[in-house]
Amino acid sequence: MKIRASSPGKAILFGEHAVVYGEPAIVTAIDRRTYVEVEDSKNIEITSEDLEVKGIRIRPGKRFETKEDVSFRRASYIFTAIKVLEDEIGKINGARVEIKSDIPIASGLGSSAALVVPLIASLAFHSGHELSKDEIRKLGWRVEEEVQGASSGVDTTIATFGGTILYRRGSYKEIRCKVPLVIGFSGKGSSTKRALEEVRRRMRKNPEIIRGIMRGIGQITRKAVIAIRQNNLEDLGELMNLNQGLLYSLGVSSRELDSMIRCSLEAGALGAKITGAGMGGCVIAIPNRNEVRVGIRLGGGIPIPVRTGERGLEIESVEDRGKRNNKEEGGERGGKRRSG
Ligand code: PMV
Repeated sequence: MKIRASSPGKAILFGEHAVVYGEPAIVTAIDRRTYVEVEDSKNIEITSEDLEVKGIRIRPGKRFETKEDVSFRRASYIFTAIKVLEDEIGKINGARVEIKSDIPIASGLGSSAALVVPLIASLAFHSGHELSKDEIRKLGWRVEEEVQGASSGVDTTIATFGGTILYRRGSYKEIRCKVPLVIGFSGKGSSTKRALEEVRRRMRKNPEIIRGIMRGIGQITRKAVIAIRQNNLEDLGELMNLNQGLLYSLGVSSRELDSMIRCSLEAGALGAKITGAGMGGCVIAIPNRNEVRVGIRLGGGIPIPVRTGERGLEIESVEDRGKRNNKEEGGERGGKRRSG
């Protein structure tokens, strides 16, 4: 049996960090994806050139500890996903897993959720378990919480359901609008865990002030929903700039991110801000003309034009003995029961 599943990366338009403290966030799925291919094998063997993961071998049912080591971080999402899945469904079948991705790693674009969600979906499917999309999203969320120390669940929700959504505390509402966006990649990775710890440190030191900032971000996000629905890009840009000011005061910006934001605004962007955890990674800008890409380049970054509101988790193909390329789309199920 051979299964291929994929999930999208994401850009948080409004509300990162505040969403961890119960405020809403707006997030959109982008047209960059991670593909997981699973084939029958005795052990679990995982390789990925794109993620720089080579030759991980695990015996099904065997337990591992995740390490804090940065070079080990990507593998720790994989180990934890397998552990969480086995806690849920019992020992999984041996499988050769190959992962391909065109999402820049550890850059605020949800590369870990886009890995964990199709990995869980395809391994569960391969072991004959029919998990719903919501079950897959929740298992993915558990993996992120375990590896990062905290997670709002926004990344695994968008990696599972796709589209553009307003997310808060595990529940979400679809916003049926597309937002024009250019991403600027600083070329430097960011650690979600480190950024979350910095915000937590500031919260402990000045709880009233930081709580006020989180509430402010929440208010910006609520107003942004109206601006998106009215396709009012000027208002949206202004709200983005306000959100960025507050992210800056949470300590998650960096020289590279500030430089891309300043240069894209000078080039005529309607608004620009960090996307994701920050302290490295990416910014987003609302372009009103092509010069915004030039602005990002002048600011030292790599412009990535993206489509927003893209599809979520998909089982792309299942080859099972006689049956070939049995494509399954869209439905509520993240996988279906193995027939052979
Ligand atoms: O940088 P990313 O893709 O891991 O996004 C993190 C978003 C945060 O709000 C900082 C954390 C979360 O779990 O919502």
